[in-house]
Amino acid sequence: MTVPMVNLRPLLEETRTEWTANLRRLFERMQFIQGEEVACFEQELARSFGSRFAVATGTGTAAIELSLRAVEIEGREVLLPALTSLFTAQAVLAARCIPRFADIHPGTLLLDVAGVERHITPATAAIIPVHLYGQPCPMRELSRIARRARLTLVQDGCQAHGARHEGVALTRFSPCVAYSFYPTKNLGCLGDGGAVLTDRPSIAERLRLLRDGGRRNGQVSRLPAINSRLDEMQACYLRAFLPRLTEWNLERARIAALYDETLSDCPGIERVRRSVDSVNHLYVIRARRRERLRAHLAARGISTAVHYPVPLHLQPAFREFGPARGRLPNAEKACREIVSLPLWPKMPQESVLHVAESVREFYKK
Ligand SMILES: Cc1ncc(COP(=O)(O)O)c(C=O)c1O
Repeated sequence: MTVPMVNLRPLLEETRTEWTANLRRLFERMQFIQGEEVACFEQELARSFGSRFAVATGTGTAAIELSLRAVEIEGREVLLPALTSLFTAQAVLAARCIPRFADIHPGTLLLDVAGVERHITPATAAIIPVHLYGQPCPMRELSRIARRARLTLVQDGCQAHGARHEGVALTRFSPCVAYSFYPTKNLGCLGDGGAVLTDRPSIAERLRLLRDGGRRNGQVSRLPAINSRLDEMQACYLRAFLPRLTEWNLERARIAALYDETLSDCPGIERVRRSVDSVNHLYVIRARRRERLRAHLAARGISTAVHYPVPLHLQPAFREFGPARGRLPNAEKACREIVSLPLWPKMPQESVLHVAESVREFYKK
């Protein structure tokens, strides 16, 4: 049996009627940039996530960069966890800020709230809580810390579409929440895409300028900006997928629960702790002899991935900004141990059982 990391085919099949109708309308209108599909999608996305505004962008990386630019902290330091996508840190550099890396909690692998304050200096202007693997960070504590130190929070929700924190929309906790629509995300398109969600009209207005050359419709630029717009064709797919997101997230939760159950007493592995708020973007375990386990699974047709193998402070692009090796021990250890198992909505139960059984078989040997 072959088990890929992700299979998008059933999701495309299920929504075919909707996206073909959207594409048909688009080809009648022939407006491929900044048209009705993106405008409608922004409204539908904001409503669905419980926020006032959504501003769509070309990528999730641009959504983070523009969020940082919208809160006007150029030249200042931004704290982010050492365990996240390299694109979170690239967005900080693109916004002309200085990335500083903090350690993670060993149980949840999210930014370690208890330890974050020791990384704050007078140069720090913002913290980026990354809702890694679909699990929201403890936003109440982080909001308290940010208020005390007069810092801004810019949330990286690129792996957490549809997530709320204790029932509250994520935009209640900070001016901006950035999302990516990379195809494998809980809400993905068929190419690159992103969006920033916000409750503040002034931030939404600034983001609209920043993503489109600093202009308002015409050909006059009002501030230094970039060109990063979601295209109409991607919005056709996103508008078809969005109404299914809640159901797809429930299916992810059911699959994650089945992994929990079937791997609960498996020696050699440890599950990453999740709260009920998680939208289960990835199912991640810590594994002894990880590379051998991955080879064992690959021999049984099972794909796996590592999110992420090298902590940011040890990557060549960011080394000058981070502490030395050994200073963020939880992130460094996690990067040696973590492995992501296959997970997608509609993943057949037999595939989940085959993966779990193959993991158990490896540690029995
Ligand atoms: C946590 C996180 N941040 C940022 C990004 C960047 O998003 P994009 O690939 O859409 O630029 C991703 C997606 O890869 C991500 O997972």
